[in-house]
Amino acid sequence: MLTIALSKGRILDETLPLLAQAGIVPKEHPEQSRKLIIETEQGHVRLLIVRASDVPTYVEQGAADLGVAGKDVLLEYGGQLYSPLDLNIARCKLMTAGVPGKPLPAGRLKVATKYVNLTRRYYAELGRQVEIIKLYGSMELAPLVGLADRIVDVVDTGNTLRANGLEPMELIRPISAQLVVNQASMKMQHAPIDALIERLRLAVAKTQ
Ligand code: ADP
Ligand code: PRP
Ligand code: MG
Repeated sequence: MLTIALSKGRILDETLPLLAQAGIVPKEHPEQSRKLIIETEQGHVRLLIVRASDVPTYVEQGAADLGVAGKDVLLEYGGQLYSPLDLNIARCKLMTAGVPGKPLPAGRLKVATKYVNLTRRYYAELGRQVEIIKLYGSMELAPLVGLADRIVDVVDTGNTLRANGLEPMELIRPISAQLVVNQASMKMQHAPIDALIERLRLAVAKTQ
């Protein structure tokens, strides 16, 4: 049995076609079902529907053998996971953003984000001490109400930033969704997992 952890939304939307090309088809549509374990037409493969930021936890702990998660989520999580394949989906950019033209404070920069760990690392590499304010969403609000000088979030079209009078500033890194594999599963179930990785690699190559 192979168990694959996926999250609803764009990861699921963009992963299902790749899985289909790799021969894995869910028995019911995960977006329409309230079930969190979805069987597939391939009796030996099942899908777990989890929160995007929980995918690495399920995979690292071995509750799922494989998973699909954004590079942003993986960088924030850290942990011991194989990441054998860039699926090149859910593409966006991890960026800093703020109010254009607004002078920065003399003291420590306040940065609001849900990516506390990677944000700390980013500014530390620049040699800048910052105060990080952990938020769970709607980061764009923080600079508008004086909660923060900068945010760190993913940006795609830039519409969300623009709609809130913010501007993207520094590119931290490009982001896309990665296939991740539990390290013990990779050893214990090497043949089926390796075969699946190769089928997915072909599916990804076809879409490029
Ligand atoms: P969440 O509910 O955790 O925000 P999403 O489905 O919105 O989950 O995002 C899943 C992944 O897709 C993120 O970890 C990121 O890698 C990527 N992503 C997030 N927002 C966007 C976007 N606007 N455009 C493209 N990719 C995105
Ligand atoms: C993500 C991200 C930004 C937005 C960026 O939010 O947190 O707010 O997309 O995309 P854009 O540059 O195309 O506007 P999402 O739509 O995932 O909403 P969420 O708050 O539910 O995560
Ligand atoms: Mg989101």
